Amino acid sequence: MHTRLTTLAVVAVCSVLTHPAHAASGEETVSTLCGACHEKTATGWDRIDSVRKTPEGWDMTVRRMIRNFNIAGVSDDELADVIAYLSDTRGLSVAETQGRRYILEREPVAIDEGPNQQMTETCGRCHSYARVELQRRTPEDWAKLVHFHLGQFPTLEYQALARDRDWWGIAQSEIIPWLAEHYPLGQAPAAYAGDPAGDYIVAGHQPGRGDYRGTMTVTGPRAAMDVKMALTYSDGAQAEYTGRAHILGAGEWRGTLGGGDGDIHQVLAVGLDGRLDGRWFLAAQDVTGGRISAVRADHPPVVLAAQPAMLRIGQPTMIQITGTGLSDQVTAPDGVTVEAVTRDVGGVMLTLTAAQPGPVTLEVAGQPVDLVAYERLDRISIIPDVAISRIGGGGGAIPKTPAQFQAMGWLNGPDGQPGTDDDVAVGIMPATWSIAPWSEEAARMQDEKYAGSIDQTGLFTPADAGPNPERPMMTNNIGDLRVIATVEQDPPLTAEAHLYATVQRFVDAPIR
Ligand code: HEC
Ligand code: HEC
Repeated sequence: MHTRLTTLAVVAVCSVLTHPAHAASGEETVSTLCGACHEKTATGWDRIDSVRKTPEGWDMTVRRMIRNFNIAGVSDDELADVIAYLSDTRGLSVAETQGRRYILEREPVAIDEGPNQQMTETCGRCHSYARVELQRRTPEDWAKLVHFHLGQFPTLEYQALARDRDWWGIAQSEIIPWLAEHYPLGQAPAAYAGDPAGDYIVAGHQPGRGDYRGTMTVTGPRAAMDVKMALTYSDGAQAEYTGRAHILGAGEWRGTLGGGDGDIHQVLAVGLDGRLDGRWFLAAQDVTGGRISAVRADHPPVVLAAQPAMLRIGQPTMIQITGTGLSDQVTAPDGVTVEAVTRDVGGVMLTLTAAQPGPVTLEVAGQPVDLVAYERLDRISIIPDVAISRIGGGGGAIPKTPAQFQAMGWLNGPDGQPGTDDDVAVGIMPATWSIAPWSEEAARMQDEKYAGSIDQTGLFTPADAGPNPERPMMTNNIGDLRVIATVEQDPPLTAEAHLYATVQRFVDAPIR
């Protein structure tokens, strides 16, 4: 029983969130499903009205209720219904989620830190600190959450590097008051009441594959939208996806579309002006995906992207500006010549020549567009400079988690010194990729031979899971690796990143 539900929790996470909400009243469902234990008083439902969280946060809580308290026979429809209702009535505003959206978007690499060392050490060691900051509660409910932790995980005080201190004492006297003060319950924002239907212009970047732009067509109401997304990559390749999405709470767009490279999920924030920003990723492999921005085609003038946003000096370069309301009115600074302007659906194509290296700001139809001109790069770096991949497959149930790297070109800026604040990021550069052992021990174990391989798009694919009889002591295919990028220039530029090619993530949650 438990195994089945645990698998469900891992696999069905995003699909329930993108399941279109059912017609039954959410209030009714809460009353039937939850009312047996949670009492409704004059001030609302016990516990349920003391918290606000994201759709993924509600998903986790409701699944815990079902799992831990054996609530039987909840259908996918009911589950989707209750999560949609709770997200609409007890959600966070998009502004309240800013800075922590990476955890909802399942960005493969993000810096997750608490507001100070004590909060990081107490509440950000077993799971992300983002999981904490994406909630609002009454003071009593923050206290109950901490009590729940100790009740549910009695070994908590002895794990996760907490043995050097009085964890429980600190949690009670310092952490609960801090949480209550900084993340108070406050008012739930009104649910999204706009009409999302229409034609959108989109632009974005997929690490390992490149920039893309395109269109998205949305029909139907916010609770059950039909979505069609057509992307054209900068190398001319096209990908088309169709599927369904809905907007939960104040502006949490969740979609599941099929086509292109497979099924994808969209996790987008709906801004006040209807602009969408977020990420899409493969349903089966969330490392693979891209950032995306979209606005309705009739949005007031705005620039979503300049692709590429860089040009070699002295060479005419075609730059695609994607946005709305863009005309051929282009103002360029001294030293930049506009050779040609062509308008097309979703923007304008410029041909520019720059004479001087450094940042360039153009105006297109009065909108600023930031580019960088360069002659030679001063250095490159790898994004990310530290990453984790995970073995998988090999007959096991858990798929591999690859790691994607990109090479970023840099100028040293006015001070001529690398690594200072005035350095200018030029853009993502084509590179050749290789791996090597990170340490002597990794060399002795031949990690570069066993742990996986990197291709020329910077994608590291880990090896199969399971013991490997070819390795000393039948060790598995983990490794400690150096990732090396080389960008053509005379002399060539290189950079290194650190890759922990490690074991599977056995327990995954909607909010890690
Ligand atoms: C069988 C009894 C039972 C049912 C049914 C039940 N709960 Fe709970 N609920 C509990 C208990 C016990 C706790 C405290 C322990 C915990 O947090 O897991 C709790 C805690 C909570 C909390 C506070 C936890 C937090 O960290 O935010 C919320 C919110 C909540 N329940 C919502 C719901 C909702 C929504 C439903 C219906 C889908 C539901 N519960 C159904 C017993 C139940
Ligand atoms: C020992 C590891 C551990 C530590 C330390 C820890 N947590 Fe958790 N936390 C968990 C686990 C595991 C869950 C998931 C519970 C579930 O839903 O099954 C969780 C869930 C949560 C949730 C989501 C609960 C819900 O239903 O909405 C919040 C919020 C949270 N933790 C906050 C905190 C805070 C605040 C602290 C610091 C006081 C903290 N955590 C420290 C392990 C930990």
